[in-house]
Amino acid sequence: KPVFVLNGPNLNLLGKREPHIYGHETLADVEQTCRALAAPLGLELAFFQSNAEHQLIDWVHQARDDAAAIVINPGAFTHTSIALLDALNAFEGPVVEVHISNVHKREAFRHHSYVSGRADAVIVGAGVQGYELALTHLARKLKAA
Ligand code: DQA
Repeated sequence: KPVFVLNGPNLNLLGKREPHIYGHETLADVEQTCRALAAPLGLELAFFQSNAEHQLIDWVHQARDDAAAIVINPGAFTHTSIALLDALNAFEGPVVEVHISNVHKREAFRHHSYVSGRADAVIVGAGVQGYELALTHLARKLKAA
């Protein structure tokens, strides 16, 4: 089963919006890097982005049957969405939460994450490399399972 890599709102603008915070790489660049890494790690990937909360929730539901693990950058839904937390609580595999920026160094409203209450690992502030760290972690974890 693939690892679902889920990206929330505004991440379609990655590389273009606030590059001093999020860098210059686009989400397509991130997907390419993830795919290049997944192959030697023996992971299959399904890569998604949506600006809509319900779409992210629907993908998490789909993951119950179709995914071995979830990597999720929920964007601002991190700080607002109990519904996304509930969906992730209904998923039984490993969940890794990724934030490109160090949310703890930023505004106070970014310091709390609903998703962290469910995530098995949280990677913040490593830039887009956080996605690679998440996949490397999951490859080892899934092999050990
Ligand atoms: C983010 C951090 C969130 O606070 C923000 O709303 C985002 C991106 C990150 O990857 O650093 O959209 O999840």
